Amino acid sequence: MNPDKTPCTASHGPAILPRPVRILLLAASACLAVPGAALASGLNGTWRMDQPKDSGVVLHSIIILHQDGARIEGSVWPNYAVRMPILDARMEGEDLSFRIADWGWSFRVRPDGEALHVAISYDSWKTSETVTARPASPSDTQLPPIVPPPALRELPANGLSKAPPMGWNSWNHFSEGVDDRVVRETADAMVSSGMAAAGYTYVNIDDTWELGRDAQGNILPNRKFPDMKALADYVHARGLKIGIYSSPGPTTCGGYEGSYGHEEQDARAYAAWGIDYLKYDWCSASRLYAEKDLRAVYQRMGEALQKCGRPIVYSLCEYGVADVWKWGPAVGGNLWRTTGDIQDNWRSMCANGLDQGRLAPYAAPGHWNDPDMLEVGNGGMSPVEYRTHFSLWCMLAAPLIAGNDLRSMSADTVEILTNREVIAVDQDPLGAQGARVLARDGVETWVKPLSGGAQAVCLFNLNAEPRDVSLAWGDIGRASTPAVVRDLWRHADIAPAGAGFTGRVQAHGAVMLLVR
Ligand code: GLA
Repeated sequence: MNPDKTPCTASHGPAILPRPVRILLLAASACLAVPGAALASGLNGTWRMDQPKDSGVVLHSIIILHQDGARIEGSVWPNYAVRMPILDARMEGEDLSFRIADWGWSFRVRPDGEALHVAISYDSWKTSETVTARPASPSDTQLPPIVPPPALRELPANGLSKAPPMGWNSWNHFSEGVDDRVVRETADAMVSSGMAAAGYTYVNIDDTWELGRDAQGNILPNRKFPDMKALADYVHARGLKIGIYSSPGPTTCGGYEGSYGHEEQDARAYAAWGIDYLKYDWCSASRLYAEKDLRAVYQRMGEALQKCGRPIVYSLCEYGVADVWKWGPAVGGNLWRTTGDIQDNWRSMCANGLDQGRLAPYAAPGHWNDPDMLEVGNGGMSPVEYRTHFSLWCMLAAPLIAGNDLRSMSADTVEILTNREVIAVDQDPLGAQGARVLARDGVETWVKPLSGGAQAVCLFNLNAEPRDVSLAWGDIGRASTPAVVRDLWRHADIAPAGAGFTGRVQAHGAVMLLVR
């Protein structure tokens, strides 16, 4: 189904984000003390799994199981990042099988002497592994002391990202497989493929670069990234910028070191390395803070970035919880995730993109809604569907952060990602986000206002068959025939007809027009 996708070495990564509501509801219960290890027997107990990774980092997860006859309950703290209830628990012979929602992890566990034999399937990455879980000690489930969130205030705008940021991020394709070499080769490919010339600038390292801290609390990269400063220099030397990732919690979603309690120190480290962009991912902060604290927690890193002496784009990743679009600018944010994690398939792409029109009032130069990174070129959708994905993101004035392997792109992928006429819609200086104006028979018409009174108009055919469509100029608020109608995928002007536009839209396809 996804032949282009590198078999990820990552097996632990959360490909689907825990649903916001779930995270926040669980946060409160996660703050309760959990009975300790001594209870472990049979399946019952609190179990700790240690998973050594190629990066040299050992990830930890907790499994809590309680069996009472046929009734089995429990929860899992994957990577110590969030706490999730087990679902569909059932005995199959000697094995207990269950899954945790949203992350796409399925478990099969069996008592093994004093330990638990655990087989985990990571559905999203199509990988699996077996791990031995041992009885946890009470300290394994103890939370660090809570640092009170700062008093709310309004931070000044940092003046960055006047247009939606464009670049690349390692997560969607490489997950844990990202390393120094991948980042260097990606920077080279961004230039040689023409993407840099088309406007892509940021080369962003996502989760799994972290090792831990030294005795002074300084954040250290793991062995995949031997010299961050040298890597940043390499990227800068190609006229590009470099981004990094962290979490306001003690651990990231992937279970690596977060910035909790070290925000200013980390911001200074990023500045010293030459980092230009930070994606800051809520994850394990949900174990310490409630929804009402989100803004203040993001403000803390916003303040740290503004003090660190280097302009750094601030990307909030908290899945659209707590109406982030209403306060994102106040914490110094340049973009904020509005959805859970995208996956490389049509259904996920539509789910993330098509209900975003409602957030149009919150997009403006310097401040962007982010329906998650692009999947174009990752292999799970057809070129037609990827064109639709890219068109929709551009209509949304979304950040254009490619998530594929830039070193080996098909001609279709390059053509989509570097379509300058479509990119110009995304990057239009007016900074207005588009929205749906009409939905009929599985065909949606979207309009994005552009500078100079122009409009981008997109017809999305969500049906599995082609559709003949007709659009009256009145449908897009025009009283008369426009002077110019241009097809932005065909790169051709269309002679504007009096009544409107008629044409055929492919199954799952999009026709994107510039109307002036
Ligand atoms: C979360 C984010 C993803 C990615 C992973 C990394 O799921 O939403 O975009 O950063 O964490 O662990």
